[in-house]
Amino acid sequence: MAAEPRLAIYPGTFDPLTNGHVDLIERTARMFDRVVVAILLNAEKRPYFTVIERVAMIREVCGGQPGVEVETFEGLLVDYARHRRATAIVRGLRGVADFEYERQMALMNRHLSPDIETIFMMPTAQWGHLSSTLVKEVSALGGSVTGLVPPAVADRLTRKRDAGRKLDV
Ligand code: PNS
Repeated sequence: MAAEPRLAIYPGTFDPLTNGHVDLIERTARMFDRVVVAILLNAEKRPYFTVIERVAMIREVCGGQPGVEVETFEGLLVDYARHRRATAIVRGLRGVADFEYERQMALMNRHLSPDIETIFMMPTAQWGHLSSTLVKEVSALGGSVTGLVPPAVADRLTRKRDAGRKLDV
């Protein structure tokens, strides 16, 4: 009998996708047969990009990579992971500031579903200072995000910023 493909879930908000996320998707794709980039549908958060825009951006940037899928999920991450028959949840750790939050999530997910392992990965040092929040701030204040996000994302950030400016005047 053929072994079941090893599938990892890479969950997040991805508002928007940064080069740090892309780095982690590529690293995960080298370790697993399939990677599902899973965007949380969170009714409480007011994201900058709609979920449709975020799915489109990630598909545009990563959809061509073999074994990479993009989906949305709601509810508990471990329920979604179980439904997808994933063996691992992948999270990025940029530095100590990420650690406590990630530790609590990983242990809560293990409590809820001991059979699904959380794997932490470090992005390339070059992306250690990157976050979606900072990227949005830099873009909104007129700074360049070239080299921080994929060109397709930079393009959308510029269009969204310019559309916002038109509304403000
Ligand atoms: O990119 P983010 O915002 O840090 O991602 C956080 C995410 C989506 C991984 C986390 O909020 C999550 O898994 N939410 C699903 C709800 C859940 O399972 N909560 C209990 C486990 S801690």
